[in-house]
Amino acid sequence: MAQKVQITETVLRDAHQSLLATRMRVEDMLPLCPDLDSIGFWSLEVWGGATFDTAMRFLGEDPWERLRKLRKALPNTPLQMLLRGQNLVGYKHYPDDIVSHFVERSRKNGMDVFRVFDALNDVRNMSEPMRVVKREGGHAQATICYTISPHHTNDRFVEMAITLANMGADSIAIKDMAGLISPYVVYELVKAIKAKVNLPISLHTHYTSGFGTAAYLKAIEAGVDVVDCANSALSMSTSQPPTETLVATLESTPYATGYDLAKLASIARRVAEVRKKYASFEAGISAVDVNVLEYQVPGGMLSNLVSQLRQQNAMDKYYDVLDEVPRVRAEMGYPPLVTPSSQIVGTMATLNVVLGERYKVIPEEVKQYYRGYYGQPPAPMDPVIQKKAIGDEEPITCRPADMLARGWDEAKKGIGDLAKNDDDVLSYALFPQIAKPFLENRAKGMGGKGEIVASIAVALFQQSDQKATKQASATSATMPAQSLWKVSGRAGMERGW
Ligand code: CO
Repeated sequence: MAQKVQITETVLRDAHQSLLATRMRVEDMLPLCPDLDSIGFWSLEVWGGATFDTAMRFLGEDPWERLRKLRKALPNTPLQMLLRGQNLVGYKHYPDDIVSHFVERSRKNGMDVFRVFDALNDVRNMSEPMRVVKREGGHAQATICYTISPHHTNDRFVEMAITLANMGADSIAIKDMAGLISPYVVYELVKAIKAKVNLPISLHTHYTSGFGTAAYLKAIEAGVDVVDCANSALSMSTSQPPTETLVATLESTPYATGYDLAKLASIARRVAEVRKKYASFEAGISAVDVNVLEYQVPGGMLSNLVSQLRQQNAMDKYYDVLDEVPRVRAEMGYPPLVTPSSQIVGTMATLNVVLGERYKVIPEEVKQYYRGYYGQPPAPMDPVIQKKAIGDEEPITCRPADMLARGWDEAKKGIGDLAKNDDDVLSYALFPQIAKPFLENRAKGMGGKGEIVASIAVALFQQSDQKATKQASATSATMPAQSLWKVSGRAGMERGW
């Protein structure tokens, strides 16, 4: 039976993360809120992913304060966030007590729907965050990262969906962060999951390959319940398919959303004005990126590879690196390419090509991966490469967070009086090097001026960072590894797919 389809609107999170380097400020969001709140969206994605550290790092904005303001301005719509499993909104595993505090405070500050994923689809890295979401009365949306490899079949995705349902998921999300999922493939996948799991299914894609709207239509025909769209003024390219197009497409069908198209169009006119303010952060990627179809590499990762290669004056090696990415990924056991696995694979592939010898230099993050500290990959890792990376060291087989000591008391002590509440302690526990200067500036009462000072400091920092990278690559064969990691980590994470 065909049924009403609903939409998660991403304009306040993924859309500007994908198109404007996550730079949209809360003061540009709030005026849009009354109208967004009146549409009746299934949820509004407003927080998480890269927005948390970007707010402090570049905008001088307290991410917790942003959440509270948005909650107040959006009283009628469920708020949604992207939570990177045990990595929360960061790029490494955090101890369970930090996970517990973070989810609890997010919930108390107004979050409703927690979309929880793990970069390796290792459900052990999702269990603790999901447990706490449930404990706090939130909606645990358990996520399957969609990817293509010889080891990723519909059967395996269905198996994962069943496991997540048994773990207490309130709904299942299919997260296609690279925009790889084609219309007929998604039709079969949604059908297969729906046949085995009696939960609402959300579908998330990016328009990068051009599949977006067509993939949503086929998924809707297969029975998907919710799809992620972005207001047209911040849609398509590396962002989501446009909201208004889908709403209009479904009008007068049994799937009709019932959303007010005229109101959506008026929101779009205002979003278009906001977008102009952030023109200098535009990714400038073409409407459809044919490389995604050919190499199955996420769009954000491609721009990241380009910036790595430019730093090394090695742009002529671009296609060699693109060929190397699938080899490195296969050796690593076919991880989905999403933060942070995309950065790990991308950096290793670049080094293999630029240094002219495979695995001549192996960054620490790659070693940690082979030690099992990111979790279990979908397929076995190549034993020869593993030995190259970590020698005779015994990899761990437990859940990585089981190796971590508690972190709360230490963070509380570390930040001291600069923290005015538990939210500040969490900001510091997650990002000590960003949160400390941020909280110091706030304590000095710099307010708006502090933001300007912070942004100038960041610009200077980036310049010196680039200089250091150039010098390093000229003098040593081992240094570029670290610099590359730094550069790729930063750029890729900000895009954050
Ligand atoms: Co996304």
